[in-house]
Amino acid sequence: MPRFNPILEQLATYPAVAVDAQKARLLESGRTVYDFGKGDPEEPPPSFIGKALCAAVADRMPYPKVKGSLAVRQAIAAYVLRRFGVKLDPETQIIPTSGSKEAVFHLPLLVIDRDAQDRGVLFPDPGYPAYQRGALFAGGDAIAVSLSGDHILRPWEIDPSIISKTRLIWLNTPHNPSGAVMGMGDLQRAADFCRDHDILLVSDETYADVYYAQAPHSLLEAGVDGLLVVHSLSKRSGMTGYRSGFVAGDPALIARFATLRTNPGLVPTDFVNAAAVAAWSDDKHVAVRRDIFGKKKALFLDFFDEIGLAVLGREASLYLWVAVPGGDDEAYATRLLDAGIVVSPGRIFGVQTSGHGYIRLAMVPSLEQCKAAIDAWRNLEL
Ligand SMILES: Cc1ncc(COP(=O)(O)O)c(C=O)c1O
Repeated sequence: MPRFNPILEQLATYPAVAVDAQKARLLESGRTVYDFGKGDPEEPPPSFIGKALCAAVADRMPYPKVKGSLAVRQAIAAYVLRRFGVKLDPETQIIPTSGSKEAVFHLPLLVIDRDAQDRGVLFPDPGYPAYQRGALFAGGDAIAVSLSGDHILRPWEIDPSIISKTRLIWLNTPHNPSGAVMGMGDLQRAADFCRDHDILLVSDETYADVYYAQAPHSLLEAGVDGLLVVHSLSKRSGMTGYRSGFVAGDPALIARFATLRTNPGLVPTDFVNAAAVAAWSDDKHVAVRRDIFGKKKALFLDFFDEIGLAVLGREASLYLWVAVPGGDDEAYATRLLDAGIVVSPGRIFGVQTSGHGYIRLAMVPSLEQCKAAIDAWRNLEL
């Protein structure tokens, strides 16, 4: 037998895989399943996006370039200007990526020196699991920052002895799983703090366009020096299977990231970039999706008010982060399976215990299925 990387043994099954397994068991037993587990909504992207992809498939498809086509970088720059009022240079400040997950996974490689004392990568806990995993595989120290209350990570509140060993801090706004949104004051202060400490600050803004109240700010609005943002078409446009996103920000960092990316060969294809041009250039379909997710959330928010459950996630994201009575998220999620309802127990998003006592619902099933799931939930003895 080959000897394996111990990190593979150390990490539990990737959370979405565990939730998928529960769903498969329910389906096998012939149950109607309402799947609020994985953040992959049913609503497809508009057809013009797929058509743009097909039109770009040619007989000869050479290797795609790390920087992607100029057209995709221009479409992204135009989006960032429309959406956040920030002007980016498509030549030097943007790199298209194969979704945002691979960018999250690879970015620690930009700053981690395995032999150095300062190898810290700080990330929100509960949070998206890839922050921890990318840090570990890069040879960094994965340091989970426990969030509670408003679920905002504020770097200046972290112990200075940890900060002195830190090379990268992850922000995630809107936040998965809680839906918390960072205000401009906090973003600016985080940017200034990390510049003062020579720490790379990266804001994962995968859910930036999935909002119901005010449109969330981007870290880019705090000036690009020393920082990067990560964006994606997965949730904005329902393009999870296309694998399309981007990293943008400080030109010096982008140049380094481009060099790094000549190594893994994980570059979006030219036809995916053509679909991305169509998607980033249109905001109408995004508003339609927001409206649908907002309606689904409204149904659940009414229901949770009715049964007295406290909820985060009203402002933004695909998720509702719900405090469960009795505090045992695993037991609560298991009881919901009796009604065919799949949710994620909050603990799977936490390295520490900050996710315990919550469940996460992703607004994935159709509006009709949401109504049926609420009826089934109401009839459960919980
Ligand atoms: C916070 C966050 N970042 C990044 C991603 C990765 O998204 P994708 O790789 O589909 O762009 C996800 C997916 O759920 C997420 O929740």
